[in-house]
Amino acid sequence: MGSGAVPKLFISEGSNCFPLILLLSVYIWSCFHGVECQSHLPLPNHEVEALRRIWLKLGQKWYSSTDPCTWVDPTSNEVVPGNVTCGSCDGSHCHVISIIIRRQNLTGSLPDEFGSLKHLQVIALTRNYLNGTIPVAWASLPLIKLSLLGNRISGRIPEELGNITSLKELVLQDNLMGGPIPTSLGKLINLEILHLSGNNFRGELPKALGNLKNLTELRIDGNPLSGQIPSFIGNWKMLKQLDMEGTSLEGPFPSSFSELESLNVLMVSSIKGGNGEFPPLENSRQLKIMVLRNLSISGALPDYIGNMANLILLDLSFNNFAGQIPKSFGNLSNLDNMFLTNNKLTGEIPKWIFTRGQHYDLSYNNFNGSDAPKDYCQIGYVNLVSSYSSTDSNTIASCLRRNNPCPVKPKHHNLFINCGGASLTIGEDEYEGDENIGGASDYHSFDEKWAYSSTGRFVHNVDNEPFIATNLSVLNMLNPELYMTARLSPASLKYYGLCLHNGNYTVKLHFAEIMITADEAYYNVGRRFFDVSIQGEEVLSDFNIAKEANGTGKAIVKTFDAQVSENTLEIHFQWTGQGTSFIPHKSVYGPLISAISVTPNFKPDTDESKLSTGAILGIVAAGCVVIALISTFIWFHQRRKDTENKDLGGLKLPIGYFTMSQIRAAPGKFNLENKLGDGGFEPLYKGASKR
Ligand SMILES: *[C@@H]1O[C@H](CO)[C@@H](O)[C@H](O)[C@H]1NC(C)=O
Ligand SMILES: *[C@@H]1O[C@H](CO)[C@@H](O)[C@H](O)[C@H]1NC(C)=O
Ligand SMILES: *[C@@H]1O[C@H](CO)[C@@H](O)[C@H](O)[C@H]1NC(C)=O
Repeated sequence: MGSGAVPKLFISEGSNCFPLILLLSVYIWSCFHGVECQSHLPLPNHEVEALRRIWLKLGQKWYSSTDPCTWVDPTSNEVVPGNVTCGSCDGSHCHVISIIIRRQNLTGSLPDEFGSLKHLQVIALTRNYLNGTIPVAWASLPLIKLSLLGNRISGRIPEELGNITSLKELVLQDNLMGGPIPTSLGKLINLEILHLSGNNFRGELPKALGNLKNLTELRIDGNPLSGQIPSFIGNWKMLKQLDMEGTSLEGPFPSSFSELESLNVLMVSSIKGGNGEFPPLENSRQLKIMVLRNLSISGALPDYIGNMANLILLDLSFNNFAGQIPKSFGNLSNLDNMFLTNNKLTGEIPKWIFTRGQHYDLSYNNFNGSDAPKDYCQIGYVNLVSSYSSTDSNTIASCLRRNNPCPVKPKHHNLFINCGGASLTIGEDEYEGDENIGGASDYHSFDEKWAYSSTGRFVHNVDNEPFIATNLSVLNMLNPELYMTARLSPASLKYYGLCLHNGNYTVKLHFAEIMITADEAYYNVGRRFFDVSIQGEEVLSDFNIAKEANGTGKAIVKTFDAQVSENTLEIHFQWTGQGTSFIPHKSVYGPLISAISVTPNFKPDTDESKLSTGAILGIVAAGCVVIALISTFIWFHQRRKDTENKDLGGLKLPIGYFTMSQIRAAPGKFNLENKLGDGGFEPLYKGASKR
């Protein structure tokens, strides 16, 4: 043990407590030199030496003055702080059995020396800043749990890891690992938890994984794993949780899915290929969370979903489901969240949808029925934007119709939004405030000028999910106030420019990464990716703000042209399962947008007149010609009739005056104002925004 370091600690505490120091030093010395301490037998010398080297390599200071077996992470504010646990005691010694060090910004590479702690069952070094590869030397340990979540570990999973047959938990999520998943992992027959999400693993899932009969949780999101969704998934009869968002696996879902009777959580998104069929889940009666998003599934919604009595969250958004919402869905009394966004559903929207007070999102569908809302597109927590097929603006609210058309005469030619923040002025541009806290199925529109629609839930962090990010420190950039807040979404976020004059616009999207910051080293491990489409066309794919901006807390503005032909501009931000999702904490992923500006690439009309300058000039010129003609006529008339007639001088003025007042007032403006008076400036009600 580093006995030289013991005095170092106490020097700083002053010299008054010398007797205490002496006592403690003797105690600590004796602990590590074979004398039995109160709490445990001593560690063998080679374990103490191994620990000393490990702490040195990890750049840790706490070791030197403390009995390592009683170390509890002093800086942790977690409920159960990281610690070192000793046990497996035989006649004369105890051994290190567990080392847990979380969020300590440990640097350096993973030390080989863990391999000399021959009784080690738990290594958990989550959310640090460790690099290097997993040492092969660890493969001889009797590990039960190995968690390296949220570091910078690179390289492959060593083949030898398959020898740790005691392993129940292997968590490598959110690192920089790659290569294929070794076949040898199929030997880990006791494995229950395998979290590999947020890495760069490639190739097919090896067949041997089908041997993992005790597997309860598998997460492989965001890895470019290829090949078909394997049918051996059906072997995992104990499987409770399967997360595979954003992999390169291909459909269809194998028929063996029907064996997954224990499944509680199924999250699959953005997988290509397949036959458009719904996975065979009729036996998965225990499901609480079912996410099958963006998978091109077509056909009717299966009736049997209505039998999954525990279902809390159902996300079938961005598919091609047709037909009606089955009656059986009404039985799902625990269903707090239902996202049927962006399908082709028809028929009437069942009444229970509106009476539950839950987050249901039915936006972008083809519903019909005579009882469509006439005013609202957000009723309670139900989002209905673009949910109806009707185009009849007299019977349904305009925002219910496809593409959210403008209900009045278009009147805007630019738009500035400070996403997630207060209204502010930068130069001449007045950025609209966007401070609504947001939600899982949220539509809000503002004065027929703009709107947003947000769909999805941060599933792993439902109690504390943010839809707005706020930066707490100082940002160094041009116009930092634009970047202090941002709107977030776990799945899909659309911003609309409403009632814009048709034409070509410049759209500027302002981004800065303010969640995955440099505050703590381990924050830097996070990687955010999302896609952006404008007017239905993808303009950014797997966009990574921090990478594009050369760092976190830095601004990057992306500029695009957009053609508005039906008075509505749509900017769509979407998550497809890429990147890390637990760094710096759970549920940091998906779209983040700081501000939006939309300016015309044409010379806009003024609001006072809907006539072009050319037209006004034309009318004025025509008026002048008429006046000139009349004047000439009168002049001739006067001259000819000379003195005999009445005063006609007043005639000029009425003609001239009438023409000019027509130019100012008539073209559309009165119409527009009338319409606005009818319902344009209605207030926003709690939970219901009116269009
Ligand atoms: C050490 O950590 C483990 C796992 O978090 C916990 O079960 C145990 O109670 C902790 N021990 C102490 C002494 O805090
Ligand atoms: C690991 O990080 C340290 C700094 O923390 C650096 O000096 C070292 O070169 C890195 N090693 C690898 C293999 O990347
Ligand atoms: C699997 O789990 C069961 C029950 O939890 C346990 O008895 C068994 O030892 C575990 N391992 C294997 C290989 O079945």
